Amino acid sequence: MMTEKQTILLQASGPDGGAEAIARAGEILRQGGTVAIPTETVYGLAADAANAEAVAAIFEAKGRPADNPLIVHIAHEEQLEQVISRRPRGLEILTRRFWPGPLTIICPKADRIPLVTSGGLDTVAVRMPSHPVARAIIEASVPLAAPSANRSGYPSPTTARHCVDDLWGRVDAIVDGGRCTVGVESTVISLCGEVPVLLRPGAVTLEQLREALGRVELGKGVLERLEEGSKVLSPGLKYKHYAPSADVELVRGDSAAYTAYVRDRAAKETGLWAMCFTEDQERLGEEIPRLCYGGMEDYAAQTEALFDDLRRLDALGARRVLVHAPQPTGMGLAVYNRLIRSAGFHITDV
Ligand code: TXA
Ligand code: MG
Repeated sequence: MMTEKQTILLQASGPDGGAEAIARAGEILRQGGTVAIPTETVYGLAADAANAEAVAAIFEAKGRPADNPLIVHIAHEEQLEQVISRRPRGLEILTRRFWPGPLTIICPKADRIPLVTSGGLDTVAVRMPSHPVARAIIEASVPLAAPSANRSGYPSPTTARHCVDDLWGRVDAIVDGGRCTVGVESTVISLCGEVPVLLRPGAVTLEQLREALGRVELGKGVLERLEEGSKVLSPGLKYKHYAPSADVELVRGDSAAYTAYVRDRAAKETGLWAMCFTEDQERLGEEIPRLCYGGMEDYAAQTEALFDDLRRLDALGARRVLVHAPQPTGMGLAVYNRLIRSAGFHITDV
C-alpha cells in the first residue's frame, strides 16, 4: 500500500489565466513531485523525466508495470537535445509538420534520461504538446515524463474529474484545464529501425505520416492481439487497456446489421447497453439503453466522446456493452485500436 498523499486541485483558469496554478504545478514538479496536467490528447501524470525517484512515483501512483516506458514532454526544440542522443532520419520532417501536437516520436535516448523513464530501453518517446497549460507548466519546470493520468488498465482521462476519480490521494496535485479536445492519446511512431513504424494510431493519421515520410509500417498489435511472448516494440500494447468493468463486445457491420444484432441480444439479456452511432439511433428503437458516440464518419466526435463514454457505462450500471465499430481508416484507426483493447479482442462480425 502506498502512503496517502494530500492531493491539491489547481484551477488553470480564472482571472489570472491560470498563472498561479501553473507556477504552483511547476514548483511541485521541480521538487520531484507528481502532478496530473491537461494536454490536448488526454490528461498526463507528470514528473521530472530526469529524476528517477520522481518517475518511480508515477509508476506507483498508476500501478503501472515497470517495463512500460513513459513519454517525455518538451516545450521547445532545445529541450529535445537534453532528451535524445541522436536525430534519426525523418525527425526533422515530422517535428516541422506535426509539433506541437499529438505525435510522439521514438528516438535514441540521451544518458541523462534514466532507464526507469524508458522502461529499461535505450530509446525514448518524445512529444511536444500543443495545450497552452501543458506548455506553460513545462516552461515553468523541466522536461516531463507523463503517461496518461489513469489507473493502469482503465480508460485514459479526458477531464480533471477522471483524474480525481483515479488518482486522488495518490499524487501531489491535479491541474484542471477543462476537457481534452482530441480525446485519444497521441500517435506513436518509431524512427529507430530501418523503416518508420506506427506503434499507436492517434489524431496524426497513418495516411498523413505516409504522405510526410513515404514508407511507414503498421506495428504489430495495432489491429490485432500480440502473440504471447512475441517481441514487443511498444510494451504498452501487450497490456489490457481502456477497459470499463462492463463486458465490452465490438460489433463490425453496417447500421442495419448492427442494430438487428443488438435488438436480438437485448431481447435475451439484461443489463445490455448499446454504444452506437447517430445513424443507428432510430433503428435501435426506444427501449434499448445507449450512448451515442458520434456520427459514423465523424471520427473527431468519436475520439472526443470515447473514453468518457466508456467510463460512464460503469456508472450507468451496464453489464454488457455492444459497441458499433468504426472504419479503421484515418482517425477511425485510433478509435478502432482503443476499442479492440477495451473489448479484450472480443469482436463479432454481423
Ligand atoms: O497523448 C499521449 O501520448 C498521452 C499524453 C499525456 O501525452 N500520454 C500517453 O502515455 O498516452 P502512455 O504512457 O499512456 O502511453 C505511452 C505509449 C505506451 O504504449 C508505451 O509503451 C509507448 O508509448 N512507449 C513509450 N516509450 C516507448 C519507447 N521507447 N519505445 C516504444 N514504445 C514506447
Ligand atoms: Mg496510457
